[in-house]
Parts: sequence; structure tokens; C-alpha cells
Amino acid sequence: MLLGNSRRLRSPTLITLPFFFIFLCVIFGYVEADPSSEAGGGVGYGYTIASVRTDVSGQSLSASLGLIKPSSVFGPDIPHLNLVASFVSKDCFRVRITDSIHQRWEIPRNLIPLHSQFPPRRSLTLQQPPSSRVPQSQYLLAHPDSDLIFTLRNTTPFGFTLTRRSSSDVVFDASPDPSNPSTFLVFKDQYLQLSSSIPQHRASLYGLGEHTKSSFKIRPNQTLTLWNADIGSSNPDVNLYGSHPFYMDVRSPSPDGRVKAGTTHGVLLFNSNGMDIVYDGRRITYKVIGGIIDLYFFAGPSPELVMEQYTELIGRPTPMPYWSFGFHQCRYGYKNVSDLEYVVANYAKADIPLEVMWTDIDYMDAYKDFTLDPINFPLDKMRKFVDTLHQNGQKYVPILDPGISVNKTYETYIRGLQYDVYIKRDGINYLGEVWPGPVYFPDFLNPRSQAFWGGEIKLFRSLLPFDGIWLDMNELSNFITSPPTPSSNLDNPPYKINNAGVLRPINNKTTPATCLHYGNITEYNVHNMYGFLECKVTNKALIDVTGKRPFILSRSTFISSGKYTAHWTGDNAATWDDLAYSIPSILNFGLFGIPMIGADICGFSGDTTEELCRRWIQLGAFYPFARDHSDKASIRQELYLWDSVAASARKVLGLRYRLLPYFYTLMYESHVKGIPIARPLFFSFPEDVSTYEINSQFVLGKGVMVSPVLNPGTTTIDAYFPAGSWFDLFNISNSVSVITGKNVSLDAPADHINVHVHEGNILALQGEAMTTEAARKTPFQLVVVISSSRYSSGQVYLDDGEAVDMEGVKEQWTLVKFNGALYNNSVFVASEVTNGRFALDQKWVIDKVTFLGIPNDKSLKRRSSQKKELNIVKGTNRQEKTVVKRQFDSSKQFVIV
Ligand code: GLC
Repeated sequence: MLLGNSRRLRSPTLITLPFFFIFLCVIFGYVEADPSSEAGGGVGYGYTIASVRTDVSGQSLSASLGLIKPSSVFGPDIPHLNLVASFVSKDCFRVRITDSIHQRWEIPRNLIPLHSQFPPRRSLTLQQPPSSRVPQSQYLLAHPDSDLIFTLRNTTPFGFTLTRRSSSDVVFDASPDPSNPSTFLVFKDQYLQLSSSIPQHRASLYGLGEHTKSSFKIRPNQTLTLWNADIGSSNPDVNLYGSHPFYMDVRSPSPDGRVKAGTTHGVLLFNSNGMDIVYDGRRITYKVIGGIIDLYFFAGPSPELVMEQYTELIGRPTPMPYWSFGFHQCRYGYKNVSDLEYVVANYAKADIPLEVMWTDIDYMDAYKDFTLDPINFPLDKMRKFVDTLHQNGQKYVPILDPGISVNKTYETYIRGLQYDVYIKRDGINYLGEVWPGPVYFPDFLNPRSQAFWGGEIKLFRSLLPFDGIWLDMNELSNFITSPPTPSSNLDNPPYKINNAGVLRPINNKTTPATCLHYGNITEYNVHNMYGFLECKVTNKALIDVTGKRPFILSRSTFISSGKYTAHWTGDNAATWDDLAYSIPSILNFGLFGIPMIGADICGFSGDTTEELCRRWIQLGAFYPFARDHSDKASIRQELYLWDSVAASARKVLGLRYRLLPYFYTLMYESHVKGIPIARPLFFSFPEDVSTYEINSQFVLGKGVMVSPVLNPGTTTIDAYFPAGSWFDLFNISNSVSVITGKNVSLDAPADHINVHVHEGNILALQGEAMTTEAARKTPFQLVVVISSSRYSSGQVYLDDGEAVDMEGVKEQWTLVKFNGALYNNSVFVASEVTNGRFALDQKWVIDKVTFLGIPNDKSLKRRSSQKKELNIVKGTNRQEKTVVKRQFDSSKQFVIV
């Protein structure tokens, strides 16, 4: 039934398996290898299958692969490979290909512990499996509960595919095209190549970063390079600070109707080496300069499920403290403590909420980490400044760079030497250069780095009680390029990745690839993981020191970084282009499992303008992480500096602060399920293929859509509205109703950004305030938007905002789910409480419930008498109903009618 006409071979062990089974099928007969073929061109000739065996559990299949013929390009081929295909869980499938004789570099599991759902099973290798005696044309691996079917193809060269059982849609197709050698597997020491065809008109790909992209959907005909580098994010399409070899593939419907619109899967190449990923619209080809092929496929079939499955494997995003959802102000170039105080005072004077004040490297003594400039930022004044912030319910975050100044009078440096914790080259500490001049870089692979770095953080915090840490320059950024080690294949690998878009040598302005980390691991292999490892160590250090939920903002990230840190998009420019590009960047980091993400509001480099800064705060107020930051060389851009920017800031941050419980609940959802806070429209509307192309709008959670102005001199925008009724959150009497998704022209006067809530959602809002602490003390208001099917739902998560663990059963938290409905001409909303341990003996106040989207009587009658009209959206026929101030026990259910 599953694989209709295939012939099924059974081994005795397989018959005994209760839940898993393998089909080893003969379909076309054995295809002879043709080693004389020149089809491999100069790069590689591919491999054939020598033997296949199955694991006793039926969860995996492994094959020995033999090289067809060596090629002369990019170094010698590895003659014997081992391929293991296995189910990690029913929704996650892994294909691992590596040298069958010599161990190669692969990301150590102790550094990134991947979660696998299936418990390890005893593996039994069949001595002479029937499958290896009789060569077959293909071998299938399937799981009764999984939609994914793996097929190993015994062609010349060999290939494999992953298909959906439900629709026969091919998810990944690494079958070689004999006429196209670039489709063959190539496996050399420093060059791996693997290619999959993609259904050209049905696949929309997202992810693969970090890059600044003008379009969220990956455009064809580009090479996406992954090699962490300190390259300003105002440079589109080149490799930036982080590496995320993960993409999401959203399918449009197939002509036969078997594949539903929005069917989505994800693909991760778990590899830390530098790589080019070439996407031409019809194929995706990985060209990797080391490691192994280790692919993970996530079955979805919805975008949300792909995120759940991906983050189940790599780790869920770390929770963020409540305060981090407030507004942040930063600048490179604050002169002294009075300057900081002046900025804080002016925010207060302008009535613009300011939650967190940041200091850039200016605060340090000669740019040395864990020191304070004794003249401009002396300890006593800084201490007083931070204490005052805390008294006002505000926070303080300083920057740290990894480079430790080489200076015999600098204690941190000396302690680093005593711990022997620095990265080495040629047997001595590697000497780089960053802001303080000559530096050594701590090696965060070294287990002693925890004691060293954690100790420095502890000491510094005992002087200055900061609330979070900003980790910059951790790609690693180096102001010098050290000469390559003569004839080193690492410093100068045979295949040149397209570093910086100009084939820049990989050693350029970073630690050379021949540097050594703890355990003799080369920088070549671990380069892309440096920032990730620094975050991991810093996260633990902060928990150890504060006992609270850490807040870290890191520039460099890698797979799994979301477990430890937030991210900002780095050095953008104060341009309209960069304002627009911030949306694809933010959406991509959601896919990378780093939902706490923002871009420098008003632009980092270059001078902003009043209009740009106004439009930027209008958009930035709805970034998950909202921080204004600018470069030393550019003009000041605090939001109070222009009247129109200040007025907009009050308006949009006012709404952000009212939405704080919503942001925070979305972060909880990210933490437990991995679903981003800021999402592409297709997450909520996967069946609407028009949403796949959208670059200039996004949705917070399920249904708060942000449609910004991204061009100068504009007072109207064309925004896309998926089907349904949408209510303007600044003025709920404005609404948009569309029966099918379409572009709608909206007014966007100078002081306005369009933010709409979709029918079917319930928002728990609180009041505006100058700090998140004050906002948390205001009463709740529920906005219940009844859908055309007369229901709505929402939830709010409550805790103290800073406990390390957000979901432990013993922890003090409460999740309140709301269900609203229109029934018998009356509306009601009811709550349902989970855990209920937060604020057990406190009441929480709901002072208003507003029901929207209630059809008027006439339409009610029409609906009941004429069923056909049921799908006519009646959002414009709304009534509001207000319930004034009620107190509820936060641990109990309530119903408001
Ligand atoms: C880097 C950071 C930037 C910071 C500057 C000075 O360029 O990306 O945000 O202001 O260094 O520390």
C-alpha cells in the first residue's frame, strides 16, 4: 500500500520489529558503474554503492560508498565513504556522509548537544545482509508514523531522495543528473559538494544566513557564503557575522492537487566549516571546505511545526527578561557619565519610555574589557549612575569585546595567561589587534575559559551591577591579517569560498585558520562557532553571578545560539534601503531560532534624518528587540532630538508598552516551541501563496500585522491583507475586511504606522508607562476580536520576568488562555489557567474588555437564514462592548459575559 509495487525483503530481525520497518526494494535492477565516464568533469566523478546494511531497530540504514574515479581539482578524493540515513524522530530525518576509514572534524556533541528523541538502540550489523548480496536499484527507509521516506538510489553515481509519503512530493533530491557533474557528490578533505534539485516553480526558500537580503524569499542565481566576518550589514548578499546553514522550503500547490499550499519542510546542514551555498532556482548546491555532510530534514508540514522540530533538535530559544522588551538607547561615542545622564534625563523630559541605557567601548580604560575610564567614566560616578537607573526601574548594559589587551599591568590579561586560556598559533599565544591595540583572544573551547571569563564578569559586576552584557566583535574580528603559514592548506584552502563577495582569503581580518584551540582544534574548523561559544560561557557566568535570567546581545551567532543570546543585525547604515532590509533580516533570525532580534533603530553608520529616524522608530517599536544605536562618526539620534520623532516615539512605544504582555507571551511561546516572535505572513496564512513574496510586512505572533512606511516622502502605502477582518490597533474603529487576500491602500501620515490585529485573536494589553516595571502594574484590558466563525482565542503568560527557568512545574508562573465567542447574540470571554503558581495570592485587574468584529443584528439574521453567506466577512459591522474594572484571582478561571 505504501510502496505499492515494490518487492519487500525481510530479514528475521526486521520481522520482529513492532514499530519500525524497512523496505529494501528492487525496482529497476542493478545499474553498472561506468568509471570511464568523464561526466564528473574536473571536480568529481561521484561514488557508487558498495554495500548496504540495516540497523536492527529499523531506524537507520547504512551504505558503503566507493569512489568512481579520482579527480585532480581541490585535492585528493576520499575513496571510501559511509552513509548513514536515520530517523531522529518521526519528523526529523538525518543523512550523514563521512570518510569510512579516517575520523574527520565534525561539530563535537559536547559543544552543541543535539536533542534526539529516539533513545539509542542496540545496533546489529547483519554480517551478510541480503541487500548487499543482490545489488538492488534502490533501498527505501520508511517509518509508519513519518511522512518522510528515504530512497537510496543505486545509480552511477549513486543518489538519494527524501519524499513525502502523503503526496509523493520530493523534499530533497540528491539524485545525480548524469549530464551535469555538479550534481555528483564530491568528498575531499577540503571540499565537499552535494546538490539537490528543487521544484522551480513550487518551492519558496527562506533562511541561509547571515546576510542582508533585499528579499526575504531567497532569490535565484546567488551564492550565499557562510563564514563569520566583521562586515557591515549595510552590504547586501555577502557573508556577515553569523552562520546558519538552515533553510525553510514552503511549497506552492502541486498541479495534481496532492501538495497543499504552504506544505513546509526545513533542511539543516550541521557543519561549522566555511561554505558557499549556490541557489540557481532549480538546484541548491552546498560547497563546503571541511567537516562532513550531516543533513537534518524537518518534516513540518507547517512552518510552525518546522520551527518546533528544528528547535527541538538544536535547542529552544532562551527566555529573555521582561525588561528586555522595553526600549533601549545606545551610542558609540557617549563622552562621559554626564552625557549618559543627560540622555536619560532627556528621555524622561520628552515623556518617551527608556528602559535600558547602554555604554559602548567608550566607558573602558583604553578599550580594556572589565575596566572603566578613570577620567570620563570613573567608578564612583558610574556606580551612582547605574544605581539611579535601578531606582527608576531602568537597566544598564555594557559592551565587552573578546580581545584582551596585551599589557603587563592589566590584571585580566595576566589572569588569562595564568589560566593559559588564549588561542595559540605556532605554539604561542596568537597576537591580534582590535580596539585596545595588540590583543590575545580567549579560547572559549577551553574548559578553563569558564573560570577565567566567568571570574572577570563576577569581579566587574561586583564593581558595577550591570543587568546584561553586549558581546561584540566575536566573529572573530581582527584589525590585522596575519601572513599565512607557508604552504598551509588551512590558511589557503584549495577551494576559495566567496568571502566578502570577492573571494577574500578566509584569514583576512580574523584569527588565521592555523590557530589552535583547546584539544588542537583548528580555527579552520571552529571559526564559525567562536561567538556561539563565547555566549554559552557568558550565559552560564551571568546565571552564576546573578542567579537571574541572563540577557546577552551577541553580534556573532551560529546554530543553537538562540539557546543563549539575543542578536542585532550589526552595523547597518542610516539609509532607507537598510530600513527596508531590516525586515528580511529579522524574519530570518526568527527562522534561525533567535527570536530576540532587532536592527539599530535610525541606522548605525552615516547621518540619519528626521524623516528616516521617525519612520525607523515607527517600525523599530515592533522589532522584538528595540534599540536605537549609532556610530561615533554620525550625528546624534536620540528620539527626543526632533519634535516629530519624539511624538511618533511616544505614540508607537506607547503601543509597544501596551503590547508588552503580548511580546512577553510570544517569547514564552518561542521558548517552549521555537516559533518566532516576529513572523512572516505565511506562518499565519500558509494557504495564501501571495504571502510567500512579502518583504515589507510581518506579523507579531499569530495576528498583529505591522505594515510600515519604507520610503521617503510617502503618506500612503499598499499593504497586503490576508483574508479576514483587521482592526487598526491605534484606532479600532478603522478596519479592513477582505474576503480573499489583497493589496489595500492605507493612509500612513507622517506620524503613523499601520498595525492591525486579525479577527480570531484575543490580546491582553496593559497600560502605557515609562518603564516595563510601571507598565506591569497597570490593569489589563482584553481586546477580543470575534472571527467570522464567531470564536477567538489568545493567551498571556505571567511570571516575575526574571526567573532563570520559565516553565519548570515548580516555578512561579501562570499561563492564562482566553477563549471568546459570540453565541445567541451575546459575546463572552472565558479564561483557562495553567500552572497558576505566579501571584497566587494576588488579584489581577482587568478594567476593560472590548469585543470587536460583532456582526450587527441584520447580518446575524442574514447569516442564520442564508448559510451561503457565512463566509462573508462582517468585520466592518462591529460593536464594542466594554466591561469596567473587575478583579480576578490570577489562579482561577473567569468568564466575562
Ligand atoms: C562594532 C559594533 C558597533 C559598535 C562598534 C564600537 O562596529 O558592531 O555596534 O558600536 O563596534 O564598539
